[in-house]
Amino acid sequence: MNNKVDILLGLQWGDEGKGKLVDVLTPRYDIIARFQGGPNAGHTLEFEGTKHVLHTIPSGIFHGHVTNLVGNGVVIDPVVFAKEIDALVAKQVPVRERLLISRKAHVIVPTHRLLDRASEASKGESKIGSTLKGIGPSYMDKTGRNGLRVGDLLSADFNARYEALKQKHMHLLKGFEEHYKADPAELQTMEEEFMRGVQVIRELTIIDSEHFINKSLKEGKRILAEGAQGSMLDIDFGTYPFVTSSNTVAAGACTGLGIAPNRIGEVIGIFKAYTTRVGGGPFPTELNDETGEAMRKVGNEYGSTTGRARRCGWVDLPAMRYACMINGVTQLIMMKADVLSQFDTIRVCTHYKTATGNTEDLPFDISPSLIEPVYGDLKGWGVDLTAMREESSLPSELSDYITYLEAQLETPITVVSVGPDRTQTIERKPAIV
Ligand code: GDP
Ligand code: IMO
Ligand code: MG
Repeated sequence: MNNKVDILLGLQWGDEGKGKLVDVLTPRYDIIARFQGGPNAGHTLEFEGTKHVLHTIPSGIFHGHVTNLVGNGVVIDPVVFAKEIDALVAKQVPVRERLLISRKAHVIVPTHRLLDRASEASKGESKIGSTLKGIGPSYMDKTGRNGLRVGDLLSADFNARYEALKQKHMHLLKGFEEHYKADPAELQTMEEEFMRGVQVIRELTIIDSEHFINKSLKEGKRILAEGAQGSMLDIDFGTYPFVTSSNTVAAGACTGLGIAPNRIGEVIGIFKAYTTRVGGGPFPTELNDETGEAMRKVGNEYGSTTGRARRCGWVDLPAMRYACMINGVTQLIMMKADVLSQFDTIRVCTHYKTATGNTEDLPFDISPSLIEPVYGDLKGWGVDLTAMREESSLPSELSDYITYLEAQLETPITVVSVGPDRTQTIERKPAIV
């Protein structure tokens, strides 16, 4: 069996454009599988003049020939999931026929969302800036061995198990009362929606997805694992504690789908031609000035899930080198190059200055008091890229930027994206296949 699973994942702090590229690459695959995260993700796709935002459903859902799998590593909120299904059905997408769900995926219950809010409220100034979708509390219950899984939704004693978990959460919420008090009426509404969502999930195709994936590989099926969040938000390797609660890196695809490490093929690392971050935590190259504001405006940098303004800054090579190393990235995809057309100079953080000297590596703590980014400058291109479709049309300054990043990251950039639409994509080297 030579067939392998390719992985597409974000190298920065999320929102790199994973949804768009998964949609673009889907015609080359038979199965698209999410392996971690949950409704904290917001993956945007644009084609034929319409924009679609997906949270839990894989970004291959608009293609008829493809099976979309929500793997065991994902946490599912039945409320968000049911809404996503309704929205797709309203767009005439036969989502139920194209979707499979792992029996082992964990379920986000309403009190997980309340605990997320309570935990953030108790942190005050040092809050993480969570999307408040219940991600942290649900992964805590998974590792704490208290969680409910999709398979449990089908068991006869589901209601009793749900009640027991809820009671545990109600005790925990009492401990937060100084900072956050749950509203019983709101909880009741949330529970009604939850039970409706549970019923929607029960009627979907629930499978033992680790068997399905491995059998599909044996049959020669082509599989793409779709990452959520980004490497710098990884629970182990991100800017802890300002991270999400799952392994967003390539290794997460093994545990989140049940595939062995020697079954991983291409690791496609996707990044913006600049950097964004939403929520709290260190961001060395952040621009709190009119340049950052211009990136936000032209790049439309507002969260797909929460609508929050994203923080913007230049590319950070120490962080990207680190992400390439941890993930074993075999090829790179550069997104949103068009957003930089407005600048005369393109800056790149090449290394950090620290108390003990310069470093190109990522230190344990990248708080502003400990490191200072050092920049190199490249010439901007100053022309609109959005109508370009061929590599040969790209301005030489952009080609120089691409070549420079390839050399620094020792990895080829195979695709350059010049706009949000499916068609605004330039493939440079036929590497993905
Ligand atoms: P994801 O979470 O990685 O899927 O990324 P998001 O969908 O949250 O954020 C990416 C945003 O950039 C979306 O609004 C996309 O429509 C948009 N986008 C993707 N690629 C490009 C591009 O090349 N240029 C521009 N201007 N926008 C893009
Ligand atoms: P996609 O898949 C960007 C951020 C939140 C917060 C931190 C923890 O669209 O790239 P959580 O809700 O997981 O407890 O939040 O992680 N975050 C994201 N930022 N894109 C995402 O997903 C994100 N998912 C979580 O803003 O800082
Ligand atoms: Mg997003």
